[in-house]
Amino acid sequence: MMLSDKVTVIYGAGGAIGSTVARAFAREGARLFLTGRDLAPVEAVAKEVAAAGASAEAAGVDALDEQALDKHLQSVINKAGRVDISFNAVGIPDTDILGVPLVGLHVEQFTLPIASYTTSYFLTARLAARHMIPKGSGVIMTVTALHSRAGIPLVGGYGPAMAAKEALTRDLSAELAPHGIRVVGLRPQAMPETNTIKEAFEPRAQVSGVSWEEWQRLLASRSHPRRLMRLEELANVAAFMASDKASGMTGTTVNLTMGSLDD
Ligand SMILES: NC(=O)c1ccc[n+]([C@@H]2O[C@H](COP(=O)([O-])OP(=O)(O)OC[C@H]3O[C@@H](n4cnc5c(N)ncnc54)[C@H](OP(=O)(O)O)[C@@H]3O)[C@@H](O)[C@H]2O)c1
Repeated sequence: MMLSDKVTVIYGAGGAIGSTVARAFAREGARLFLTGRDLAPVEAVAKEVAAAGASAEAAGVDALDEQALDKHLQSVINKAGRVDISFNAVGIPDTDILGVPLVGLHVEQFTLPIASYTTSYFLTARLAARHMIPKGSGVIMTVTALHSRAGIPLVGGYGPAMAAKEALTRDLSAELAPHGIRVVGLRPQAMPETNTIKEAFEPRAQVSGVSWEEWQRLLASRSHPRRLMRLEELANVAAFMASDKASGMTGTTVNLTMGSLDD
């Protein structure tokens, strides 16, 4: 198994990506500490992977609350002695931030995703790094989207937020890699099997005049294999990137857009 006994904290573990990554990491032997703002969905994931034989604990932790994050990671260190992998899969509801043309967007709505995504990633990465540096090893990971590198209408501050997270991945790596810590992002293609993408499509549906089915076909047609990305595929790459087999990867974001976005 690629992640045997790797002490792993996942933030946003009740979500589509966080929960799928948790299942993949569990299959690879990771010792999981799953967190999310609401405890119930995180508990359900922890119970599921524990029933399959993995080690998993759930906790309600707001990934924008510095003190709550600190307290939780300290409890992980007290139990497990270290943190090997920190994975930030936090996502804020897209319906709150999408669908308004930039010329009509209020500044608060514009800055909401930029502040939320970058602050949460900064807080969880900084905290993990503080515990990883004395051990001389660790992996810090997060998720972005192709909006970081493509011009897409009606997404407000989401694109700048994703671009900022990818810049932070590079900067964290530049400072932390000399301490043996790798920092790697994942940039998946939109996965319409998730509620996130269905909800994100709604505000744009009326404006674009394209149906849900047509839009999925369009998305697939832009990829080289002419199909949609699957959560499972993202999670498999995440497990590999978190493992020592990816020791040569740091300071980068893996392009998982299947050709939709050129490097
Ligand atoms: N789904 C896709 O196809 C796709 C593709 C590319 C990129 N992404 C990006 O990947 C990220 C995750 O996507 P997803 O589809 O997994 O979203 P999701 O299903 O909505 O999951 C996001 C999770 O983050 C949690 N969360 C939100 N704010 C939090 C906070 N302050 N503290 C702790 N947890 C918090 C949510 O919990 P609550 O429900 O309790 O708020 C939810 O469980 C997002 O940035 C998204 O834009 C997604």
